[in-house]
Amino acid sequence: MFVEGKSILVSGASRGIGRAFVEVLLERGARRVFATARSAEDTEQLAAVDVRVRPIRLDVTDRASISAAIVQVEGLDLLINNAGSLVGYSLLESSRDAIEADFAVNFWGALDLTKACLPRLEASKGAVLNMLTLVSMASMAAIGGYSASKAAAWSMTQALRKELGDRGVTVFAAYPGAVDTDMIRSFEMDKTPPRVVAKNAIDAVEAGTVDSFPDPMAKQAGAAWLNNPRDLEAMFANM
Ligand SMILES: NC(=O)c1ccc[n+]([C@@H]2O[C@H](COP(=O)([O-])OP(=O)(O)OC[C@H]3O[C@@H](n4cnc5c(N)ncnc54)[C@H](OP(=O)(O)O)[C@@H]3O)[C@@H](O)[C@H]2O)c1
Repeated sequence: MFVEGKSILVSGASRGIGRAFVEVLLERGARRVFATARSAEDTEQLAAVDVRVRPIRLDVTDRASISAAIVQVEGLDLLINNAGSLVGYSLLESSRDAIEADFAVNFWGALDLTKACLPRLEASKGAVLNMLTLVSMASMAAIGGYSASKAAAWSMTQALRKELGDRGVTVFAAYPGAVDTDMIRSFEMDKTPPRVVAKNAIDAVEAGTVDSFPDPMAKQAGAAWLNNPRDLEAMFANM
């Protein structure tokens, strides 16, 4: 799918990778970018970016918010499930509420938003891009709660790839490594700029590559996983 002339919804567009997606999509000639954010301040800022940006208030954990958002979307070719939460750290030390909060955004939020967008995506024979992570494939104990929620989102992605595929909708997934955003601000490690990740993930969509590894760490770890999934588990156990 080529972005030029298309209508695209990006969840979690206030900052980080989501904001980078908005910029990359505009550069590629998107006709309309429905850029969603939770706060009025962020939607106001998004409105000022470009006339093609339609800012929409959206909390993906709130089904009333999803319903109110979707009626503002008149046509849709691509849904980017980018909104994400990382508050579930060690499974032993995190509260149940924290782990549930990650599942609410990373699994349920992405699934509920996809279902709400489905009639429009079926009409356009469009696509979904789910922002997953390397820790969807192998858990990292220090962020075990987040990892579990993203593993669930990976499983959901695979199931929807079949079910949505039968309806003419293609499901893409990207599996970044460490990206330089607020989400992992406190982690000291090499990180890729969000613009690079957004650009590479969109390149993969335009090339028809359904699973993409959009940064150097992702490419290396993804190759390890393809060679032997236990290699990635062992690699992450030592981080
Ligand atoms: N950073 C990384 O190293 C990394 C690596 C692999 C994958 N990812 C994935 O990439 C995606 C983007 O991450 P990021 O690094 O850009 O994170 P980020 O900088 O923390 O931004 C997260 C975005 O998600 C939004 N969001 C959070 N909860 C939401 C909710 N309930 N409803 C709607 N929006 C919500 C935030 O909105 P507010 O501004 O309102 O909080 C923000 O726009 C996530 O799915 C993440 O899991 C990130």
